[in-house]
Amino acid sequence: MHQTDRDVVIQAIKENLWPHYAFQSEIREKGPKVLVKGDGAILWDIEGREYIDGHSILWVVNVGHGRKEIVQAMAQQGEKISYASLFGGYSNEPAGLLAKKLAEITPGDLWVSFLVSGGSEAVEAAIKIARQYQMLMGFPQRFKIIARKESYHGATLGALSCTGLRVYRTSFEPLLPGFVHVPPPYCYRCEFQLEYPSCNIQCVKAIEEAILWEGPKTVAAVIAEPVMSAAGALVPPPEYFPRLREICDHYGVLLIIDEVLNAFGRTGKMFAIERYGIVPDIMTLAKALSGGYAPIGAAVVRKEIFEAFQDYMMMHGITYGGHPLSCVAALKNIEIMERENLPQRGEEMGRELGKLLEPLKKHKMVGDIRGIGLHYALEYVLDKNTKARIPGDQRVAARVEELCWKKGLYLCRASVDKTYIAPPLVVTNDQLQRIVEILDQSISEVEREIFS
Ligand SMILES: Cc1ncc(COP(=O)(O)O)c(C=O)c1O
Repeated sequence: MHQTDRDVVIQAIKENLWPHYAFQSEIREKGPKVLVKGDGAILWDIEGREYIDGHSILWVVNVGHGRKEIVQAMAQQGEKISYASLFGGYSNEPAGLLAKKLAEITPGDLWVSFLVSGGSEAVEAAIKIARQYQMLMGFPQRFKIIARKESYHGATLGALSCTGLRVYRTSFEPLLPGFVHVPPPYCYRCEFQLEYPSCNIQCVKAIEEAILWEGPKTVAAVIAEPVMSAAGALVPPPEYFPRLREICDHYGVLLIIDEVLNAFGRTGKMFAIERYGIVPDIMTLAKALSGGYAPIGAAVVRKEIFEAFQDYMMMHGITYGGHPLSCVAALKNIEIMERENLPQRGEEMGRELGKLLEPLKKHKMVGDIRGIGLHYALEYVLDKNTKARIPGDQRVAARVEELCWKKGLYLCRASVDKTYIAPPLVVTNDQLQRIVEILDQSISEVEREIFS
């Protein structure tokens, strides 16, 4: 890029662009990190520097960067018609075909898609579907939603009310009434001070207790991510979801499974909930649904739920929901995933990543390494025996992330004390090794500073 154009871009980002979940002052001081090109698991920034994408840019680009066939399919669609909404009985071809494809590939009788523009909107749609469905079934007082502490379900007010991470909530409270949070399946820091399997999965019992305490006739739904991501790739015990399904059925509560981050091969299956052999009532999708080639999300519901709305309008609509270009991108993206068997590749490469990460336990501050498929996290501690947390103002994960960036590894969304590793499913063995090498060096450097 010509030096002057580069300067204009950098200046514009510093002056006119509001960053998401970032400190403006840091961007002004250090300069923005501007990505300009991608190919497979490799990225280039505006300075021409090369990086390995260790994060699929927010767990989105599962099929890898630079997939020309997706872009070409979108261009062809754009030449026919670029926009046609789903409001008022009108529709478009790609939206219909995508909904059909999702009905085919999602588990069980998940059958009808409410198409939106992203993950938060998918969660909003799921909450509204659950509430209106309960009303149509004769239970207008069933409005409460049970979620888990430490979960992230999005940034809009309904999705944020589900989110169980204090830091995201504080500035916007009071949030919506009727959202209740229970302990997550966080075995490394069990709230009940128990150990699996003798714990008898107390954390799922806690959901039943919450339903009983709130009053079963007031609860509309439970929302849960299969592998909790923000909390650091928490893989629940095998009985967790089958038991939760039974509890929800027993009390007439809908089960919303938030697959926004897990779906499309991230955990080594097309959908993470397939690992647990249950069918949710509503499944939310976004992120890797289009591989990042266009914004899209979906709330996919069971046939039975949709049929309850036969004579009633679902009072919800999003202007860009079912955008033809996004639907074409999603269809092509799914075609690639199936053709190249990418979920299976995620499983195989995930096993490699797990083995490569294991030696990082040698670090004094690496308390836990966990995950499944190409969805891993490291949790940092001050003391491995006590699991004492590193104070938030040390910003330990952000420091690791910054050093990784300088060494050619892109890792985004470091939380206070966790680093997430989630490369595209097309990542090679050599790239995985390099990811872990850079991470290892960066942790060593931060560790020297923290424990000096
Ligand atoms: C599980 C889960 N649900 C919902 C969302 C919100 O998605 P979006 O950022 O597309 O609104 C996210 C985003 O990270 C997520 O991880």
